[in-house]
Amino acid sequence: MTKNRFPMMFGALAFVAWAIAPASAQNALEAKLQPCNTCHGQDGKPINATTPIIWGQTTAFMTKQLHDFRSADRASDIMAAFSKTLQQEELRPAAVYFSMKTWPANATAAAAGPEPEGTAVCKACHQNDFKGGLPAPRLAGQSYQYLINQMNQFADGRRTNNMDMIKLMQELSPAQRDAIAKYLAAL
Ligand code: HEC
Ligand code: HEC
Repeated sequence: MTKNRFPMMFGALAFVAWAIAPASAQNALEAKLQPCNTCHGQDGKPINATTPIIWGQTTAFMTKQLHDFRSADRASDIMAAFSKTLQQEELRPAAVYFSMKTWPANATAAAAGPEPEGTAVCKACHQNDFKGGLPAPRLAGQSYQYLINQMNQFADGRRTNNMDMIKLMQELSPAQRDAIAKYLAAL
């Protein structure tokens, strides 16, 4: 319970900070963020399964990812380029802007099966409902393709921007990672 209160408080404070910014600054930022929608979706549904949902994703996590893409701590040619269309001081407002939007409804018709082995440990950070917390991202309803890519990238050292995640993913077998990614995508 106390654990869940932090992300909510954090989100509310971030929203207040964003809401009291001058309207013209907000409009300017919104205009600058339009190109993001070409991939992440005009309605929050990404154009393909390798592009993550960012509508309703957690704020601190997204701010860090934008920093990491710019500094190449997280490798992605596409996002290296697009994160650099923003100024350093615009990264957090951009993350706030997308995190305040509603996570799109899950397009997967299949209901999540029984919870696979190995997911208990994830909840300490990603929360019981896998909707994320400070500073962990939401995983529930993210695409299977995206989740398994990222889990494998942590496991084999291609994604290096979080040491805990590297260790945790290396402790799982490829089959376990696959089962967990399928489960999370269906939530
Ligand atoms: C040309 C397509 C494209 C555009 C435009 C684009 N992105 Fe991305 N974005 C991606 C892809 C693909 C990834 C996943 C990269 C990877 O595989 O690590 C990503 C990842 C992200 C992530 C990390 C999310 C997560 O769950 O790890 C954030 C945050 C993000 N983008 C924000 C933005 C913002 C803000 C903009 C606009 C300034 C933007 N993106 C523009 C394709 C795009
Ligand atoms: C100690 C806390 C912690 C635990 C436990 C943990 N995670 Fe994470 N996870 C994080 C954080 C923090 C990030 C963001 C890392 C970064 O800065 O890129 C993350 C990122 C991820 C991502 C990338 C998501 C994205 O949108 O880019 C996936 C997938 C993921 N975790 C899956 C899992 C799974 C599955 C488990 C359980 C087997 C797990 N995590 C356990 C803290 C944790």
